Order: sequence, then structure tokens, then C-alpha cells
Amino acid sequence: MSPMKTMLFMLAAGCALLLSAGEKYSAIYFSDSHLGPESCYNMSKDNPFRTKKDIKRDDATREYFNAMLKHIADHKGDNAKLIISGGDLIEGGTYGEEVHAKTLQNAIDRISRGTGLPFFFTNGNHDAWGVGGAAAFDKVARAYLAKQPYAVTFAKDKGINYSFELGGDLYVFGDFFTKKSHWIETILERISQAKPGQYRYIIVVTHPGMLGCGKTTRRVVEAAAKTAAKGGVILCGHSHRNKILKFESPLGKVSELMMATMVLGNTRDAFANPRDKMEVYWAACDQSLQLAVKKAKTEKAKVAAQGNLKKGEEIKSYYGPYLKEYFEVSGNGYAKLDISDDGITVTLQSAQLEQAPIVKTLF
Ligand SMILES: [Fe+2]
Repeated sequence: MSPMKTMLFMLAAGCALLLSAGEKYSAIYFSDSHLGPESCYNMSKDNPFRTKKDIKRDDATREYFNAMLKHIADHKGDNAKLIISGGDLIEGGTYGEEVHAKTLQNAIDRISRGTGLPFFFTNGNHDAWGVGGAAAFDKVARAYLAKQPYAVTFAKDKGINYSFELGGDLYVFGDFFTKKSHWIETILERISQAKPGQYRYIIVVTHPGMLGCGKTTRRVVEAAAKTAAKGGVILCGHSHRNKILKFESPLGKVSELMMATMVLGNTRDAFANPRDKMEVYWAACDQSLQLAVKKAKTEKAKVAAQGNLKKGEEIKSYYGPYLKEYFEVSGNGYAKLDISDDGITVTLQSAQLEQAPIVKTLF
């Protein structure tokens, strides 16, 4: 294709992504994929950096992640306009700046090409982890994001803090892990630039969950809730669990969606096995937080459900008086968000991709 034809093709593709305010569209969300070098970068099997555990984990990750990307490409629908990672896209470690940069670049390319969607991501604690990791992350992420559609605006401070508008919604990405990045102030500053009601939804993407982190982070939630016309959304990960928390306060509504797209071989989490089915193991609803346990088929899920049954009021005191619903499922997977004036519907898709998805609403 000639350079002129390539440019026209890119312009046409860019126009196809643009949306009017209030238009219905979809976003794909995943978090904590922890891709290793072998998963993205064709390194030799005898690379001295890689242990047997690394190889096992990376091979399993590659197998699952490829299947997930194919599933997304086949099921995203015509309205999908972006794919988002909530951090820990790559595992990071002691590979050095060059390998770190290639791993990240290959992960980005794999996701954007594999799904055909613009890809946006925030910094998890692993993405910039290790010698040269922070420099590699900053360089690769900044160069890639600057070329993305939707007019990405970077904050002036250090770190990958940025925002853009899409379909009348404001997306704010907060870099929690870059040093000297005053990420909360940056997020608040971006939200405060909006007039109340200017945006339909304000969607904040940051690695750790914000609703259980005390007064400081709740400032972001309150700002998003009162500024967005229909509600604020927090997209996060970090804990390697799948949760939906729905809050209603006098300031407005805000919901948090936490996802786990974990890998086999990482034993830090009880549910870190992509072959697990995604099953509801407990849900807490309404003011009284009556807990319902459904289909706790695995021993771990039963133990977790029984333990949590006794702790309903603790959950409420932890998350505050405005918690209306707490929903959690085991397993690993990704979410598709269908965003419209009528609300946001979340389809949770398990790592067993042929399994029927779980559908919930955020608003
Ligand atoms: Fe993680």
C-alpha cells in the first residue's frame, strides 16, 4: 500500500472509531495478565533469566492469553471501541530495560492486533518492576499512547497519567506506582476541570481498588460520583479477584469493577488458575447485606463463602454505609462493558471461554 493510501486507510479507521456524545458502545476490560517475556517476546528457551517456574507460567499464560484474545476478537461485536488493561499487563522482573521494553511492546502489539481495538492501560506494580523497568515502561507506554485515537492528554507530572473523552464519557488513567506521581491529585484535577453533568460517565482506571482504601482515595470516588451525569466507574485489579461493588450516596452513584486475568503457576492467589470455572461464590445485596452463596463447587470457594457469611457487617463497615451490592466470582477472565444512556451492563467471561458468561449491571 502506498504511503498516501496507508494514510487514508488510517484516517478512515480513525473516523470509524469516533462516537457522538451519548452513543452506545462497548469496552473490553481485563487486568493482571502478568505476561512474561516468553509470552510476548520470542526468547530462547535456554535464556539464563528464565527459571522452570517462569517457563511453566509463561507457557500457560501464552496459551490462555491467545485464547482470550481470539475470544474477544470473535465476540466483541461491532460497537467495541477500546480494550483496557487495569495494570500488571506484564510480569516484569530482573530482565533489564531492553527485554522489559520488548516484552511490553510485544504485549501491546499482540493485544491491539489480536483484537483490532485501540488499547489503553495503566501502570501496575509489575509493569515497571525490576532493573530498568520504570524507564522502559515510561518510554514504551508514552510513545504508544501518544499515537492512539481519542486525543489522549497526558498530565504534566511524571508517570503515565492521562485522560481522553469517548462517546460523552471521560476516561482517566491514574498511574499509582510511578514515584513522585501525585496520581490522586492528577485524577482529581482532571475531573475538577469538568462541569457537573458534562460527562455521562467518568471512568477511572487505576491498578488498586479505590473504594476500600480510605479517605484519600475516596475523594476520587466522590468527585467522579458528583461530577458525572449518570455515575462514576472505577476499573481496577491488583487483588487478583473478580468483584463488583455498587455504591449509592447523596453525591451520586459509583461502581467498582475489579478483574483478575491471572496465570497458571503463580500461587500467590487461591484462584490463580485459568482452568477454573468462573462461578459465583458469594454475593451480598441490599442494606442488610444478606449474603447468598451460590454454587460453591470448589473447596476453596466453600471455605471463602462460609468465612464471608459471618463477616457481612464487617464488609459494610469496611466499605462504608453507601454499599448497595457486593458481588464476587472465582476464576479468571475478562469483562465486556456495554455502555449506554440506560446504564452499563457487564458481561463477565470466564477463562473457560466456552462457559456461559455472567451478566451484571453497574447502573
Ligand atoms: Fe497482579
